[in-house]
Amino acid sequence: MAFDFDLIQSVYKQMATKITNARETLNRPLTYTEKILLSHLHGTSELKNYTRGIDYVNFSPDRVAMQDATAQMAILQFMQAGRDKVAVPSTVHCDHLIQAKEGAKKDLQRAESTNKEVYDFLSSASQKYGIGFWKPGAGIIHQVVLENYAFPGGMMIGTDSHTPNAGGLGMVAIGVGGADAVDVMTGLSWELKFPKVIGIKLTGKLNGWCSAKDVILKVAGILTVKGGTGSIVEYFGEGAQSLSCTGKGTICNMGAEIGATTSLFGFDNQMYDYLSATDRKSVAELAYQYKDHLTGDQEVYDNPEAYFDQVIEIDLNNLEPYINGPFTPDLATPLSQFAETAKAKGWPLNMEVGLIGSCTNSSYEDIARAASIAQQALDKKIEFKADFTVTPGSEQVRYTVDRDNLLPVFEKIGGTVLSNACGPCIGQWARHNAENLEENSIMTSFNRNFAKRNDGNPKTHGFVASPEIVTAFSIAGRLDFNPITDTLINKDGQEVQLDPPTGDTLPPRGFNVEDLGFVAPQEHININIIISPESDRLQELTPFKPWDGKDMVDLPLLIKAKGKCTTDHISMAGPWLKYRGHLDNISNNLLIGAVNFFNEETNHIKNQITGTYDTVPSVARDYKANSILSVIVGDENYGEGSSREHAAMEPRHLNVGVVLVRSFARIHETNLKKQGILALTFANHSDYDKILEGDRFAIKGLDHFATGKPVQVEITHQDNSSEVVVANHTYNSLQIEWFKAGSCLNYIKNINK
Ligand code: F3S
Repeated sequence: MAFDFDLIQSVYKQMATKITNARETLNRPLTYTEKILLSHLHGTSELKNYTRGIDYVNFSPDRVAMQDATAQMAILQFMQAGRDKVAVPSTVHCDHLIQAKEGAKKDLQRAESTNKEVYDFLSSASQKYGIGFWKPGAGIIHQVVLENYAFPGGMMIGTDSHTPNAGGLGMVAIGVGGADAVDVMTGLSWELKFPKVIGIKLTGKLNGWCSAKDVILKVAGILTVKGGTGSIVEYFGEGAQSLSCTGKGTICNMGAEIGATTSLFGFDNQMYDYLSATDRKSVAELAYQYKDHLTGDQEVYDNPEAYFDQVIEIDLNNLEPYINGPFTPDLATPLSQFAETAKAKGWPLNMEVGLIGSCTNSSYEDIARAASIAQQALDKKIEFKADFTVTPGSEQVRYTVDRDNLLPVFEKIGGTVLSNACGPCIGQWARHNAENLEENSIMTSFNRNFAKRNDGNPKTHGFVASPEIVTAFSIAGRLDFNPITDTLINKDGQEVQLDPPTGDTLPPRGFNVEDLGFVAPQEHININIIISPESDRLQELTPFKPWDGKDMVDLPLLIKAKGKCTTDHISMAGPWLKYRGHLDNISNNLLIGAVNFFNEETNHIKNQITGTYDTVPSVARDYKANSILSVIVGDENYGEGSSREHAAMEPRHLNVGVVLVRSFARIHETNLKKQGILALTFANHSDYDKILEGDRFAIKGLDHFATGKPVQVEITHQDNSSEVVVANHTYNSLQIEWFKAGSCLNYIKNINK
């Protein structure tokens, strides 16, 4: 049993009281979103009517989930905190590092040897710190979480954007960066801007070729990739209750594609059935007892405009299948217009590969419905024109659909079953001929379809649709096809047509599996964490030095970044992802994407020791070798983009002492504070213009560094003239302690001693 019944029971007991108090305090009915958020307030945040989209609030999530790419740095940081065990139940899932090439078995074997050092590290650290470990091949994080850990009314964070998948089981599940996971695993609160709430009312019932995927594809078309930003999307209505639990998961999963903080559905019979089918009947019964707390108040759903920030209504009776793309998930085209649109837009009409599965669409229902289409191809003697792959989301699903003779159907039509892992969805796909960079079209049942996402080829037109639509299009091998209206010519030269898909929501004979691939956390285990000193992918962290109690003087300017400087400019992704567990190696990408204000070039800055120009990492390393702290100057919204903690750890590692900008993206500002860097903003935005190449900085009076008190920054120019500018900061008293200790983790370690 992977889930923790006692935890769920205690959450429900507290929820009952907290929701009653919240309804009284706010003096109004509550959305389901508010019920979960307000019953997970951290002790440092009082119960009150928070202003949505404005107030920052501290929460206490119930769980943490991490995938193997992001878990590396999260656990390396956790090791610095001096704790014996994680403070909340946490899991690691080995899913991102398995490359799809020759099929499940061989691909898994190859990954186990290529990534051995990473897997050894993650499994040994998981054992040591009481973290559940899901081995490579066990499944994709979000499918495994849905099958084992998600529960209605719960709150979890996960170090992956599609963590909201667990909203299909009624959970507030939010994707975060590793530093946030470390906070929660070390027992700290987790901060979030109190979200707005978008209500989506679903009426009617799906029919024919339509599936849950089409709901979110339509929503993406309505709201676009930015429409959900800062919001939680709450689905309700009789249409919502008619959707299977895993269908709900698909919808919540792709809420990430509209920028939503997360999405969720209230508890209903479908969730009860799914919990029971996945060996959690006790949780289903418990949730049923508390069912009134596990959905929004009826007054809210009767009068949604009064309680949601935005309301959208979709009638499932009249929904039609959608195909979204290419290059963006919000370009939604209804199936009836797709062939014409594809021709008019000049998209490559030959569809070369169809790929189904992934964390988004690999439920029993998805595979069963897609298999019903593939079986028709066999029965009606139609050949698949496109290549075809199936990525099961977990070993439990794979074993069950194999046992029920669904997976063999795909093999009979010449399809390839890939490992239970991310594979082509995250670009881990050794696609034949992709290196030729030719224009082509593929269709997937995944979630993201940005350029290069699947095969690295910028000319691959990636379309996203339901598994059954992908399967039908793979048979036709063309984009100018409509399975509802068009016929195909079979091997006997006859015209045949596909019937709508069919399939069970849950396996009639129940789920089964031989080996889940799970290693449960153990009590009192003494184990050495395995990191090879020769590794170029993993490196144990060395604690950053505490503040020496002195003023910072004579700090050279490292770079004055011009314009947009996102976390991608500060710590690029792509090939650097390999070094996510090795701070020194990944620091070689520090700010290589930022534009130097003085020459408008990237990665070409002046070294004040030598007077010559060099790359940003080289100059920073030179300052570090000479024990010199340096200063980064930035423009507006510095550090926007992601919560990637490397963007704050790298400058700290390379001896940056101060980041002084016009304004910060809040998450990055907090990350800098956590790493012990002084994060300051110009009180007068135009003072940014005063910074010249070759400037040196002094921050004086740091022994009086206090909340709400601006800091004086003395700038000395190359001609020895100097001036003082005022810098603001947002440090609270705890964050000042982080600065003094050298980092948040040092501070935690000190108090744990
Ligand atoms: Fe993996 Fe793709 Fe999901 S990368 S976690 S299968 S979105």
